[in-house]
Amino acid sequence: MTHTERTGRGLRVEGCSRTYATPGGVAIRALDEVSVEFPSGSVSALCGPSGSGKSTLLHLLGGMDRPDAGAIWADAEELTAMSSSELVGYRRTVGFVFQSFALLPALTARDNVMLPVLPYRSGKQDLVRAAELLADVGLGGREDAVPSQLSGGQRQRVAIARALMGDPRLLVADEPTGNLDSATGGEIVDLLFELRDTRGITVVIGTHDESLAARCDATVRLRDGRVVRAVA
Ligand SMILES: Nc1ncnc2c1ncn2[C@@H]1O[C@H](COP(=O)(O)OP(=O)(O)OP(=O)(O)O)[C@@H](O)[C@H]1O
Ligand SMILES: [Mg+2]
Repeated sequence: MTHTERTGRGLRVEGCSRTYATPGGVAIRALDEVSVEFPSGSVSALCGPSGSGKSTLLHLLGGMDRPDAGAIWADAEELTAMSSSELVGYRRTVGFVFQSFALLPALTARDNVMLPVLPYRSGKQDLVRAAELLADVGLGGREDAVPSQLSGGQRQRVAIARALMGDPRLLVADEPTGNLDSATGGEIVDLLFELRDTRGITVVIGTHDESLAARCDATVRLRDGRVVRAVA
């Protein structure tokens, strides 16, 4: 990977709330007037018990969902003021990584990495780029392996390479080490730091793992949908 002067997106969340309606008619306030910042080029951990609102906030940051109230800014762009199609455009500039890897089992590592561009085009350029990204995440030579032939950590590397296909300036990772042993999880976190350093990506990681959180530049703690502590 080569060093870049590019900077990751800086995110600002102001007074955001998100309530889910449930079939039983009970409203669940997943986020309650959350205000928090994720500085450009930082690696932040979003911690908190199960149900505290981590995934909900990550979805808002990535433009996969909208808050009921409050505002979200990505640099000078206000996500909460965007039309639906503008938000789709924003979402394409975000890389997502999930606990479950979300790879298609029948596709090779290379084709899984190319998934984001398959609906549009898949020229030689994309094949080359997918192979480069796999090499960047330490999987050079494994382009033709299918997920069942890869270890959990290697599958997560494929998922990270795929998240990089759109050249994101923000990477949102929801429990990226949740299915991995601690040593393998540590290697994935090393990789996320390397991506921040070499590609200028802002990274926000939702996690239960306190040792992972301790390595991050900042930790934001949620409880019952509220920020309980923000340590820089
Ligand atoms: N689509 C939904 N419909 C209804 N309630 C939801 C929905 N998604 C989340 N919730 C509720 O919102 C609250 C916050 O959920 P969220 O998934 O953000 O928590 P989390 O911190 O990511 O939890 P975990 O650590 O278990 O992943 C929970 O009470 C959850 O049940
Ligand atoms: Mg979650």
